[in-house]
Amino acid sequence: MSNKASNLFSMTPLLKAAELSSLDGKPAAIGAFNVNFYTQALGIIEGLKKAGGPGIIQASKGANKFQGGAEHIKAMVLQAMQDCQCTIPVALHLDHGNSEAASACIENGFSSVMIDASHSPLEENIQATLEIVKKAAPKGVSVEGEYGMLAGVEEDIIHETTTYANPMLVPYFFDETGADALAIAYGTSHGPNKGQNLSGLAIHIVDQSYKGLKAYGQNEKHFLVSHGSSTVPQDLVAEINQYGGNLKAARGVPMEKIKEAIASGMRKVNIDTDLRLGITATFRKYFIDNPGIENDSPNVLAPIKKVLDENPGTIDPRDYLKVIDIKLLRKDPAGTDLEDVMALIKPRITAHVAMLVKEFGSAGLASHI
Ligand code: G3H
Ligand code: 13P
Ligand code: ZN
Repeated sequence: MSNKASNLFSMTPLLKAAELSSLDGKPAAIGAFNVNFYTQALGIIEGLKKAGGPGIIQASKGANKFQGGAEHIKAMVLQAMQDCQCTIPVALHLDHGNSEAASACIENGFSSVMIDASHSPLEENIQATLEIVKKAAPKGVSVEGEYGMLAGVEEDIIHETTTYANPMLVPYFFDETGADALAIAYGTSHGPNKGQNLSGLAIHIVDQSYKGLKAYGQNEKHFLVSHGSSTVPQDLVAEINQYGGNLKAARGVPMEKIKEAIASGMRKVNIDTDLRLGITATFRKYFIDNPGIENDSPNVLAPIKKVLDENPGTIDPRDYLKVIDIKLLRKDPAGTDLEDVMALIKPRITAHVAMLVKEFGSAGLASHI
């Protein structure tokens, strides 16, 4: 459903278009890209436009905090859509929300929310998800839940190993909650170090879960979500390390595995880390290519460079951007000290997003919605 006031779509028609394409023999998933600042949003939207693919722009609780609240994220994303005359269907989604954040985003005009109660026992998880569905559904806002737990960092908690979703219970979760989408843990993990956990990648969990949805006739209304899906391009890792960073054993999910998961029934694929890597590589290279430029910009570039110099392991742009005035990060950087570096960042995000949308099989699906 389109939220007319804001031109944002619930993610349901987007995911349904991917499902119909898959049923037609062309497996597809919609890319969901995390956002923290204006140029990142613009780069993502330009990438969707380039590929002609609908897309999901998602902001985590951390992103909401960084930007000072859901209303600022929404205004920033709408501004970016307007600035590049975006007519592609886009959903604005809360990533890994709790009840409080999901309620705030529903109130502030997000078109989709995730309630991640996966750390709770299943019946409590179902109850928490149902409560959010009751608030979201009357406003046409779609809801994603999560079942099972990814290894690595999730919801401020670190899990040593994956707690896999039980495919037999996936139709039950949808039945009980009425959620539109469900993240199922199948062996991926968040962040740039997926190496050791990927030995536990269990695509058969996707396959069995999707077969269950089909058996119960749920597959055109309820959709599976793949978290922790970044491919961690090795050229970006090398670039970060070449220009002063220090990333060790950074590995993503191979693209063939993501495509296998999509062919097995995944319809939403989450990408955050890849964009963080591209942004961080660009900042690091910019400071090396332009020695001393920070001296001309004591309030903006100098503090950013200092954090990068002192934290060679960081890939989170918020680590080094939180030291500047947040207002600079909510709008077009033209005419500011960020103009040049953001002009380098935008096309790299655009190219990566367009490439992923094509690989995910959703290029061209914008015209089907
Ligand atoms: O699920 C994790 C996403 O990469 C968002 O990360 O909570 O640090 O913004 P974040
Ligand atoms: P990555 O860390 O693999 O990009 O995963 C992102 C994600 O799942 C966001 O919810
Ligand atoms: Zn996630």
